[in-house]
Amino acid sequence: MVKRQFLQFILPFGLPLLAGAAHTCYDLALIVTAHSKTRQIIIPFLSLDNRNLISDRYTAIASSVTAVLPMVPVGGTYNISSTYCEPDEPTESVQLLAHGTSYNKKYWNVFRLPVQQAERYSWVNFATEKGYATFAIDRLGTGDSTLADPLLEVQMSLEAEILHGIVGMLRAGAVKGRHFQKVALVGHSTGSIIGKLVSVNHSEDFDALVLAGFTTHVPELLYYNSSEIPLPAALVNPSKWGQRHLGLTFPLKSTIERSFYGSNGNYDPTIVAQDFDNTEPFSMGQVVTPNSALNPSPSYAKPVHGLVGQHDTDRCNGTCSYGPTNIPGNIAGVFPPSRNFTYHIVPNTGHNLNLHYSAAESFEVAHYSLR
Ligand SMILES: *[C@@H]1O[C@H](CO)[C@@H](O)[C@H](O)[C@H]1NC(C)=O
Ligand SMILES: *[C@@H]1O[C@H](CO)[C@@H](O)[C@H](O)[C@H]1NC(C)=O
Ligand SMILES: *[C@@H]1O[C@H](CO)[C@@H](O)[C@H](O)[C@H]1NC(C)=O
Ligand SMILES: *[C@@H]1O[C@H](CO)[C@@H](O)[C@H](O)[C@H]1NC(C)=O
Ligand SMILES: *[C@@H]1O[C@H](CO)[C@@H](O)[C@H](O)[C@H]1NC(C)=O
Repeated sequence: MVKRQFLQFILPFGLPLLAGAAHTCYDLALIVTAHSKTRQIIIPFLSLDNRNLISDRYTAIASSVTAVLPMVPVGGTYNISSTYCEPDEPTESVQLLAHGTSYNKKYWNVFRLPVQQAERYSWVNFATEKGYATFAIDRLGTGDSTLADPLLEVQMSLEAEILHGIVGMLRAGAVKGRHFQKVALVGHSTGSIIGKLVSVNHSEDFDALVLAGFTTHVPELLYYNSSEIPLPAALVNPSKWGQRHLGLTFPLKSTIERSFYGSNGNYDPTIVAQDFDNTEPFSMGQVVTPNSALNPSPSYAKPVHGLVGQHDTDRCNGTCSYGPTNIPGNIAGVFPPSRNFTYHIVPNTGHNLNLHYSAAESFEVAHYSLR
């Protein structure tokens, strides 16, 4: 049984962040109360002196966690940092933007690079020009949101309940007094998985799901080959992350470039350099627990649009191709009643759709599906 209550307040602070011709953005904090059950991950001897042990444990835990660990209740009140952007024209439609692993809310606005460099890669610019408001969150345990326990709390089931709470708040006027009539979930990667998970138990939350970098192929145990095991962020960069829980881990640059980008020539290396500078540590609890991408969502009947890069080899098990039984077309199988499942394979693109030269095509296709 998942219980969720929400008490929420909006805490605007500061002045408008960015004021362009088309939209205005605000950094906001939402206080969300959420409860769920997570896997009771316990890692004995977790200590900085046991560097090798940590690597070994990572894979050991990942392969045993599904079968062995009991579920325990978790929950509380969480401070979710977000950036809300609204077009100058009033709108009743908002996109809830949920980032992927090793990113934070800045993914949707290209790490806040200067406009000249960033414009072609900014989801937020594109969406607001199309008349949508956007609400990009730092998911639990990332960015400026609550640094929850990265083993016990930061797991997808609790994150899904937090997203559910946020949807209620967006509809109830908690964000700048706007009462949104339509809420679309736009996810990237893990953000898509969690968004889809919300639709399992809360089929009325979203008016549309845009699942970027998402398939039902479950790569994460393969994802870290033995020379790419993430290490505690505290070990990787003690001056920056030294005080953080050891269950908070950091990917290698080689993993990011290999797993998240397509072939050379399809992206700007200076954007990858920005990616490295902005890499966000991620919680072990979220990546070693069962991936819920395969959980069917039997009651969700609104549109679903999948978007995947042609060279997203991890998510496509080597090849993405069209056809109902191929990846990603087989996503339809987890949404039985949806009559409006569509998907698009973006050519010459890897996992991070927003950060390739093809970004405009991804943005256009995704917004066409929302029309
Ligand atoms: C959905 O609800 C069922 C029944 O209450 C519960 O067992 C399950 O854990 C919930 N799923 C999520 C993702 O919260
Ligand atoms: C929530 O976090 C923000 C920083 O993102 C902070 O300014 C604010 O005081 C926090 N609010 C509460 C209630 O803790
Ligand atoms: C495993 O990681 C290493 C180090 O990044 C890399 O050189 C190698 O190509 C990877 N192997 C596979 C099969 O991806
Ligand atoms: C699918 O889309 C059509 C046209 O946009 C709409 O009339 C129909 O209600 C949608 N079906 C579902 C199940 O959402
Ligand atoms: C993934 O690819 C491997 C090797 O080609 C194949 O054996 C396996 O069945 C594929 N898995 C899925 C889920 O398509």
